[in-house]
Amino acid sequence: MSHDTIAINRERQDLSGLEAVWLFGYGSLIYKVDFPYLERAPASIEGWSRRFWQGSHDHRGTPEAPGRVLTLIETPGEVCTGMAYKVSPDVFEHLDHREKNGYLRFTTAMTFRDGSQNEGLVYIATEENEAFLGAAPESEIAQHIARASGPSGPNAEYLVKLQLALQQLGVNDPHITQIYEALVED
Ligand code: SIN
Repeated sequence: MSHDTIAINRERQDLSGLEAVWLFGYGSLIYKVDFPYLERAPASIEGWSRRFWQGSHDHRGTPEAPGRVLTLIETPGEVCTGMAYKVSPDVFEHLDHREKNGYLRFTTAMTFRDGSQNEGLVYIATEENEAFLGAAPESEIAQHIARASGPSGPNAEYLVKLQLALQQLGVNDPHITQIYEALVED
């Protein structure tokens, strides 16, 4: 599958006619909110975990030297907490462009902190996309992140801002914390 997913996402999900759509963010969408939203609230999804397994050619790296950014990996029993945003459907034009390097939109059930539930869309870069890098030990991922940089800035900034945002949400994600600690210790 080509790593530019803009056209595929438009074909897969027609959002026109909807008044508002919930989006679940688990990575940069938690801390880099460069889109208008109607409402936002912390939320969790079940059966998924965050992993720095996706290559970034367009934000935190280049095609020759990709950075490492987050995707979600199916992990039964795991809960992934992030931020949910209620947005106007036209916001997905911007989001599809921002997430074009391999991410497809999927529908997911989200649970808010008060226990209420709703359906939302989530961007996931599956292992079929060309930019997928896959698993590596946390210490190696930290070294990779330390040396990568792209049009959106240093890869390390993605990690540091994410860790801070997760702390503000009261979330300790062991995969992220291990990589963060390996990076700051270096
Ligand atoms: C997300 O944040 O939900 C998607 C991955 C990213 O843009 O970092």
